[in-house]
Amino acid sequence: MPATIVMGGQWGDEGKGKLTDSLAISADIVVRANGGANAGHTVKTDQGVFKLHLIPSGILNSDTTCLVGAGVVIDPRVVLDEMEALEARGISLARLRISERAHVVLPYHPILDRLEESDRLEGSIGTTLRGNGPAYSDKVARRGIRMVDLVDKTTLRYRLSRELPRWNRILTHVYGVDALILDELVNELREYGDRLRPYVGSIEPVIADALAEGKSLIVECAQGAMLDIDYGTYPFVTSSSTTAAGACQGAGIPPTSVERVLGVYKAYSTRVGAGPLPTELEDDTGQLIRERGNEYGTTTGRPRRTGWFDAVAARYVARLNGITDIALTLLDVFDVFESIEVCVGYEIDGERVETVPASAEALARAIPVYERLEGWRQSTVDARRPEDLPAEARAYLAFLERHIGVPISLVGVGPAREQLIPYAGASEALASPARA
Ligand code: GDP
Ligand code: IMO
Ligand code: MG
Repeated sequence: MPATIVMGGQWGDEGKGKLTDSLAISADIVVRANGGANAGHTVKTDQGVFKLHLIPSGILNSDTTCLVGAGVVIDPRVVLDEMEALEARGISLARLRISERAHVVLPYHPILDRLEESDRLEGSIGTTLRGNGPAYSDKVARRGIRMVDLVDKTTLRYRLSRELPRWNRILTHVYGVDALILDELVNELREYGDRLRPYVGSIEPVIADALAEGKSLIVECAQGAMLDIDYGTYPFVTSSSTTAAGACQGAGIPPTSVERVLGVYKAYSTRVGAGPLPTELEDDTGQLIRERGNEYGTTTGRPRRTGWFDAVAARYVARLNGITDIALTLLDVFDVFESIEVCVGYEIDGERVETVPASAEALARAIPVYERLEGWRQSTVDARRPEDLPAEARAYLAFLERHIGVPISLVGVGPAREQLIPYAGASEALASPARA
């Protein structure tokens, strides 16, 4: 069976971890495609809550092989901590393999991330300070060190001895902070390399064989399409490709093997860090969404910014990525709402706009054009079938389908595995999909 991509349709934290975990029950392999420890994927199982940063969310299914793709940047300290914590909870790592082509987040990358952020002053991006941006910068500048180098003691020393002097000049002369000492760095990283060596190798043959044998494969993306380096709200974006095309590249999956692109969207909008969020609610309604949705960052604990669903951005992402169907999560957050608004257009400098402008400044000036829908004012958390959902909730889903132009196939009414409803989709609503 061909591949399914699970990707974020908004600004991250849509519930990709939960969806990957749920779909992994019937998948042979889960491959993480992009990002690094900036990601925080929460999965709730019978064993409690797991917060995954680098290990694919498929790891909680005992039969699923989990691969970390070449497009991921790996902080060895973080991944080792995460592996230890999983093992302590009885999760086997025997099925884990990390691509030798993945780049390493080196100890100087988080230092640079912090220094670059403070340098940006009021223009700061609000990064997770995990060193991802500097690690990806080094990768494209061809200064990076990869997992294949980390596990080879001689190459590691040689490569670091080439790269560190330049970074030390920048640390001391540009930023006026202490230089790092080569021997200390090498020793620390060699120890990580020793511990990670059993897991590091080539993953392309594993994927190629699996596809040839008709096995099913899930690609788990990090972040969301609105944070994509090319198509997001640049420069308020992450440093990797968070799109379906990026998923193929980062995971090493041939595009021709992709059968399904599942866009994960939450029932409203959130964003962590800086950058435009046209539907942002900085009032009691926004706070109510934050409290009911527990909208505090998995990785940094920062309160997430909240707002109404932005159907303009959602449709832009759906069309760009060829999203085949949608998992709409956190519908239960609206259970107490009298009414709900959805942004169906923007007004920018007096003009009606129906797609996402390239300029973050223009998007920041966008005044959302809203349509108001009735709330359902009853609990959905026990709903297990579409017909268990109140009529107003189904009307909300149909409205979103019509405006995004893609059917909803799954609906989330809570964080637990069983709180995910297979949904038929209001196909009649798709007869005339909205076009930007
Ligand atoms: P990810 O980064 O896309 O994997 O998403 P996060 O894990 O950062 O954030 C999603 C949060 O919502 C997590 O705490 C999930 O447990 C939770 N969650 C997922 N789906 C639902 C849902 O349908 N309802 C509720 N109430 N919580 C959900
Ligand atoms: P998951 O996979 C939400 C945001 C940061 C910041 C910007 C750049 O859990 O959905 P970075 O550290 O990547 O250089 O920060 O991107 N960001 C995320 N926001 N969810 C994420 O991941 C994110 N990963 C990065 O808050 O605004
Ligand atoms: Mg997250």
